[in-house]
Amino acid sequence: MRERLARLREQLQLAGHHYHVLDEPLMPDAEYDRLFRELQALEAEHPEFLTPDSPTQRVGAAPMASFTQVRHRVPMLSIHTETDISEQGAVQFDARVRKQLQLSEADPALDYVAELKFDGLAISLIYSNHLLVQACTRGDGETGEDVTHNIRTIGQIPLRLPHTAPPELEVRGEVYMRRDDFEHLNNRQRERIAQGLKNEKTFVNPRNAAAGAVRQLDPRIAAQRPLSFFAYALHFHADTSQPLSPVQATLNGLQTYGSHMQVLLALKSWGFPVSEHSKQVSGANGLIAFHHDIAALRDRLPFDIDGVVYKVNDISLQARMGMVSREPRWAVAHKYPAQEEFTTVQAIEVQVGRTGKLTPVAKLAPVFVGGVTVTNATLHNEDEARRKDVRVGDTVVVRRAGDVIPEVVSVMLEKRLQDAQIFTMPSHCPVCQSLAVREEGEADYRCIGGLFCSAQRKQAILHFAHRRAVEVDDLGEKLVDQLVDAGLVNTLPDLYKLGFSHLAALDRMAEKSANNLLASLERSKQTTLARFLFGLGIRHVGEATAKDLARHFGGMEAIMDASIEQLLTVNDIGPVVAQSLRTFFDQPHNREVVEQLRACGIHWEESAPGARLDLPLAGHTYVITGTLPTLSREQAQALLEEAGAKVAGSVSKKTTGVIAGEAAGSKLDKANALGIPVLDEAALMALVKPR
Ligand code: IVH
Repeated sequence: MRERLARLREQLQLAGHHYHVLDEPLMPDAEYDRLFRELQALEAEHPEFLTPDSPTQRVGAAPMASFTQVRHRVPMLSIHTETDISEQGAVQFDARVRKQLQLSEADPALDYVAELKFDGLAISLIYSNHLLVQACTRGDGETGEDVTHNIRTIGQIPLRLPHTAPPELEVRGEVYMRRDDFEHLNNRQRERIAQGLKNEKTFVNPRNAAAGAVRQLDPRIAAQRPLSFFAYALHFHADTSQPLSPVQATLNGLQTYGSHMQVLLALKSWGFPVSEHSKQVSGANGLIAFHHDIAALRDRLPFDIDGVVYKVNDISLQARMGMVSREPRWAVAHKYPAQEEFTTVQAIEVQVGRTGKLTPVAKLAPVFVGGVTVTNATLHNEDEARRKDVRVGDTVVVRRAGDVIPEVVSVMLEKRLQDAQIFTMPSHCPVCQSLAVREEGEADYRCIGGLFCSAQRKQAILHFAHRRAVEVDDLGEKLVDQLVDAGLVNTLPDLYKLGFSHLAALDRMAEKSANNLLASLERSKQTTLARFLFGLGIRHVGEATAKDLARHFGGMEAIMDASIEQLLTVNDIGPVVAQSLRTFFDQPHNREVVEQLRACGIHWEESAPGARLDLPLAGHTYVITGTLPTLSREQAQALLEEAGAKVAGSVSKKTTGVIAGEAAGSKLDKANALGIPVLDEAALMALVKPR
C-alpha cells in the first residue's frame, strides 16, 4: 500500500514536471487522470498516509526559472472534475449545489452557465488605466510566470480597453491553438526539419504547441505561432497592494454584474473573444442537454476541448458557496472521452496510394480514443517515422481529434522491448515489387509501377468513383479489391464492361448488390466535364482546378490539346499543374482511357469556352467557414458555383465575401480585419436566388 502510494506520487510528480515545465508530456492526459484519481482514492481511504508534497495537494507545477515569477493577486483555482463522465455527472453536480445551498425539491431549478472546457492554458491578464500591463501563466496557482511579451503577440487579446470598461481589472481565460493552425505549424516544422534545420521539432498536440509558444523566451518566435484566446472570468482589484482571497475577489465589484452571464457579456462588449457556445441553462436537464449538444459538435469545432464546464450563474450564490481545496464549489468540469490514449504497435505496414505514394501505417491494438475505436495510425513518411522512431511492439500514445486521421504522437521508450527493430522504408513497392524511389527534395517514396501496380489501380478506380468525381455509389473499397484481384477490372473503362454474370460470380455478392452496382454505373455515365476531369486523378488537379479548367476551356478536347502557355492563362493554374496536365495527356494510353470511357457512354454537356462569365456571381470569390444552420458546406459551395462564383479555402484581399456559420473562427476574424462583408445562410440564399 505505502509503496503503491509512493510510486504513484513519484510517477505523477515526474509526469507533472514533464508536462508543465518541459512541455513534453510523458503520458496521455487520460492516463495521468487515472493515476491521479487512484492516488486521490487511496489517500481518501488512508488519510494517515497523506503527505503535504503529494501531487494531489497542489495545482500545476513550479514555474520555469527563466521567467520572472509573479504572485497572483487572487489565486488561480482549478476546477473539480466530475468522475462520472455519463450524463449523470451533470445530475450529481446539480444535486451537490442544491444541497449546499439548502434548497429543497420544491425550490425552482437553478440557473447555470455551461461553457466549453478549452484545451489550452490558463492566462491572467492585468489591465491598468485600460492598458494591458501584465500577463501571466497559472503556474502552481499561487505564483505564475510573467509572459507579457508573448501574450502581447496574440492579436485577439486587446492591448487597450474601451472606456466603457473599468480602468483596473484582471481578466482570465484560455490561450489555445486552433486545429488548422496547429496542422499548418507542424507542416512548417516538418519542412524545416527536412531542410536540415537543427533544434526544430513537431508538436504533439495543439495544447502543447500553445504552451510552448506562450513560454517561449523569444517573443519573435512566439509571434510566429498562431495563438487564439477565449475570456471566461473577470476579477477586480480595488486595492492592488494586498493579495485578495477568492471570496473577496468574487465580491469585489462583481456584484454589479449579478451573474456570470452578465460578466461574459461585459467581457465581450470590451472586445474580448468570448465563446459563442457559452450558454445559460436551467437545472440538471439544461446541463445534460448542453453536454449532449456539445458532444455531437465536438469533432466539428475548430479547436480541441476536453469537456464542458458548468458554473452557477448567480454571483452572490457563488460567493456563498466558496471553495474547497483550491476548487470552487460552484463550478465543475465534465469531461468527454480522451483524445489521446496508450496502445501497442502490432505491425508497421506500408500502404500505396493513388499516385504511388508509400505511407507507413502503424497497425495498433484496438484502442478507444476520441470517441471511436482506432486500429491504424499514420506515420506520414520516412522522415516522420524515423523521427518518432516507432517500432513494432512499442507502446505509443495515439491521438485522434476532430476528423483528423489518427496519429502516433510519441513512443514510451521505457517500455520498449530489447530486440525491437528500427523501421526502414522498403526499397520496392510492397504490392507490385516495382522500385520505390524518393526524389530529391521530396518527403515521399513513390512506387514507379504506375497502373501496373494493382494498389495504384485500385486507388485510381476508387478516386474515379468518388462522390465528388463521377460518383459511382455502391462501389466501395472491398468491392474494388475483389474486382481488381479477380482480374475483372484493370482500367477505368473495364468498369463499364462489367456484366451481371461477372459480378454474381464474385464471393459474397448478392443479386441485389450486383444490380445496384450496375444501376449506379449506368447513372454515373451522365456527368459533368469537371467531375470527369477530377476523376481521372491527374496529379495536382484537385476539384477546384478541374472546375476552373472546365469553365475556362468548355470542352475535353480543348483541355487535352492545350499548350503550357494556354494552361497558364487559366485562373490559379501555375507551372506545376500545367506541366502535370501536359505530361498526363502526352501519354497516348491516358488519351485512350478518355476515348474508351466516352465509347462506353460517359457523357457531359460541353459549353462554349468561358461561357459562364455571364452568370450573376462570375468573377466573385467566396469563402465558407463554420457550420451553417441547414446547408452542408458542399451544398453551399454548389449553390455559389452554380451562380458562377468561385469558392476559395482562405480569405484574402480578393475575397468578395465570407459565408459564416456557427463556430466560425480565424477566417471570420480575418474577414473582419480586412473589412470583407460577412454573410449568413439567409444572405447566401438571397444572393444565389434566381433573378
Ligand atoms: S474557469 C473557477 N472556465 O480549466 C475556476 N476554466 O482546471 C477557474 N478551463 O486552468 C477556471 N475552459 O485553464 C474555466 N470555460 C472554462 C475553462 C476553464 C478551460 C481550464 C483553465 C483552468 C482549468 C481548471
